Amino acid sequence: MSSRLPVLFVTSKLPALAQQRLEALTDVEVRQHTSAHAISRTQLLEAVGDADGLVCILSDKIDAEVIQAAGSRLRVISTVSVGYDHVDVNALRRHGGISLGYTPDVLTDATADTTVLLALMAARRVKKALQTVANGEGGGFSLSTGLGSQFTGKTLGIVGLGRIGCATAARLLPFGITRIVYSGSQPRDDRAQPLNAHYVSFEELLKQSDLVCICCPLNERTAGIFNRQAFAAMKSTAILVNTARGAIINQDDLLEALDKGLIAHAALDVTVPEPLPGDHPLVRHPNCTILPHIGSATEETRNAMSNLAIDNALAGIKGQELSAKVDL
Ligand code: DGY
Repeated sequence: MSSRLPVLFVTSKLPALAQQRLEALTDVEVRQHTSAHAISRTQLLEAVGDADGLVCILSDKIDAEVIQAAGSRLRVISTVSVGYDHVDVNALRRHGGISLGYTPDVLTDATADTTVLLALMAARRVKKALQTVANGEGGGFSLSTGLGSQFTGKTLGIVGLGRIGCATAARLLPFGITRIVYSGSQPRDDRAQPLNAHYVSFEELLKQSDLVCICCPLNERTAGIFNRQAFAAMKSTAILVNTARGAIINQDDLLEALDKGLIAHAALDVTVPEPLPGDHPLVRHPNCTILPHIGSATEETRNAMSNLAIDNALAGIKGQELSAKVDL
């Protein structure tokens, strides 16, 4: 039996407090990719070899090849994210014996805050307003230009009434929203009742909503659901906010929808790829606001996510129950 310490490989630098904790661990040997540049596939395949635990982030593609490269000691994969579409869960199921940890709950507030931020930016045409100031254009206060819209009396559509969807709806209600509809794989009465939210089909949600917030996970059912047909069903005044995953939206169809005025504005924290090139037509589009995936990017939340991921990794290495585990 080997007497070496278990190896924990971490694919990226953590925020300061969690990084300090990681560096102080004595019951595992920590190996870490600390460069400012994301770990490349080749680096990952090489560095993961012989690891007992792997802490990864959402831009690391974790598939059968990585699992094989890790070797027979690997007991746990712990992603510092609530979304785990970057992990091939079928490969994990087939392999067996490896737990998957993730970080639900701790990022709900920060992500819901970002969703509201984007909704307001879109509604109040903040992209244009900031450009006007940066370019030294515009003549100061005007009664008739730069006018946006407000949420008073409007219908909010939440695609995916999970933790983040609920927190987003609760935050938006005080802005005067009068009706909330939601869609998803099944009704969530427990979550919907306190918000007086109504379960409707996806098509109905598109038809009724003034503001549509995408809060669902990316999976086979949700990939590309915002396509040409979906945009055609939406109100021409509608705002679309996505803080979930870029691939839920067909970006070519979104561009066409914005060009044709099928919807008023899209505000995205997530895109494919990330980041979008600076000259991408969506980045340049006056009716599209894009943030660089900062939904959970607060000191508090990123440290909490990283700490939970460390907890999950340590528990998995020791063969204990993970604090937050994906059912495989
Ligand atoms: C996640 O954890 O999945 C989020 O996208 C990070 O912001």
